[in-house]
Amino acid sequence: STILVLHGPNLNMLGTREPEVYGHETLTDIDDRLKARATALGHHLLHFQSNAEYELIERVHEARGEGVDYIIINPAAFTHTSVALRDALLATAIPFIEVHLSNVHAREPFRHHSYFSDIAEGVICGLGSQGYDLALEAALHRIHQSTK
Ligand code: DQA
Repeated sequence: STILVLHGPNLNMLGTREPEVYGHETLTDIDDRLKARATALGHHLLHFQSNAEYELIERVHEARGEGVDYIIINPAAFTHTSVALRDALLATAIPFIEVHLSNVHAREPFRHHSYFSDIAEGVICGLGSQGYDLALEAALHRIHQSTK
C-alpha cells in the first residue's frame, strides 16, 4: 500500500523552530524514519512539505491518481484556517489521520479549532514527532483491516 505524509507551513523549520514546543528533530529525520518503517513492512511512503496552501491542495488531488491508500497530515497553521484544504481531502475521499506535534488544546484558543478533525479518521496531538509514528502504525493497521 501507499501512504502519503503531508506537512504544512513552517514545518520545514523543525529542529530550529521553537524547539521547546516542537522538539529538536528535523523534518528529514521524521520523514526518513517513517519511510524506513513503511519500507521494512513492504509499503511505500511518500512525503511532501509546503508553505503554500495551493501546493498542498494540488498534492492531495494528485494522490488520488497515484493510488494513495492513506494520508497522514499535519496541516500546521492551515489547520485553523483552510476550508480549501479540507475540501480537497473531502473531494479525494482518501482516509486520513491528523497529527500535531504540540498539544494544540493546551495552547492559544485560536489553535483549539480544526477544519480537519471532524472529517479525520483520528487525531493525534501533543506527543511530539512520535505522533507521526503512531499515525503510521494506525494507518497500516486500518489498510490491512480494510483489505481483508
Ligand atoms: C502544529 C500546531 C499548529 O497550531 C501550528 O500552527 C503549527 C504546528 C503542531 O504540529 O503542533 O504550525 O500543527
